[in-house]
Amino acid sequence: MILKVSGLQKRYGKLEVLKSIDFELEKGEVVCVLGPSGSGKSTLLRCLNMLEKPDGGRIELNGNEVFGDGKPKDLDVLRREVGMVFQSFNLFPHMSAEENVSIAQRKVRNRKSDFCKDRTHELLLKVDLEDKINEFPDRLSGGQQQRGSRSPGRSRWTPKSCSLTKSPVRSTRNWSKACSM
Ligand SMILES: Nc1ncnc2c1ncn2[C@@H]1O[C@H](COP(=O)(O)OP(=O)(O)OP(=O)(O)O)[C@@H](O)[C@H]1O
Ligand SMILES: [Mg+2]
Repeated sequence: MILKVSGLQKRYGKLEVLKSIDFELEKGEVVCVLGPSGSGKSTLLRCLNMLEKPDGGRIELNGNEVFGDGKPKDLDVLRREVGMVFQSFNLFPHMSAEENVSIAQRKVRNRKSDFCKDRTHELLLKVDLEDKINEFPDRLSGGQQQRGSRSPGRSRWTPKSCSLTKSPVRSTRNWSKACSM
C-alpha cells in the first residue's frame, strides 16, 4: 500500500469540509474522487499534499507517517513523492466574486454601479454562486472559480485581459480602452 489515510478532518471556520476520511491506495491504482462542486475534493488533495494543514487524522505514505497527532511529520518525504496539478481560472485575486464579474460591465459597458450590482447578483445566481458573492478567489473551490470566470458577465473578456499585461488592474484599463474603440 502506498497511501493510507485515516480519520482525516478539515474545516474552514464553521464549514466542516472533510469529516473523517478513510481510504487506502495501492501502488499503480488509479482513483477518481467524485462529488458536487464545493464538496471537498480539492481540499482533500491539498490536505494530502500538506498545502493545507488538516485539523486531525493520520496520513501514511509508503509506511512513513507524514501527518499525525495534529502535525505534519517528514515533509521532505512527502515533497519528494507527491506532485499536484492545479486549477486556475484567471480571476483577479484582489477582487471579490462580485467585483470580478461586475468590473467588465463598469469598464467596458460603462454601466452605473447599482445596475451592475443587480446584474451581477443575477449572473452569480445563475451559476450557483450567490452565497459566495463577497468571497475572494482564494476562498472559492476550483469549480466555483471556473463558474465565476465563465459567467456571462466575464467570459467575453477574460482571455484578453490576461494576455495584455502582468498587472491585472492595468490590463483591465487597457482592455476597456480597446473595447471602447
Ligand atoms: N481557503 C478557504 N477558506 C474558506 N472556505 C474554503 C476555502 N477553500 C475552500 N473553501 C470552501 O470549502 C468547500 C470545499 O471546497 P473544495 O475546493 O475542496 O471543493 P471541490 O469539491 O474541489 O469543488 P470543485 O468541484 O468546485 O472544484 C467549498 O464550499 C469552498 O467554498
Ligand atoms: Mg476542486
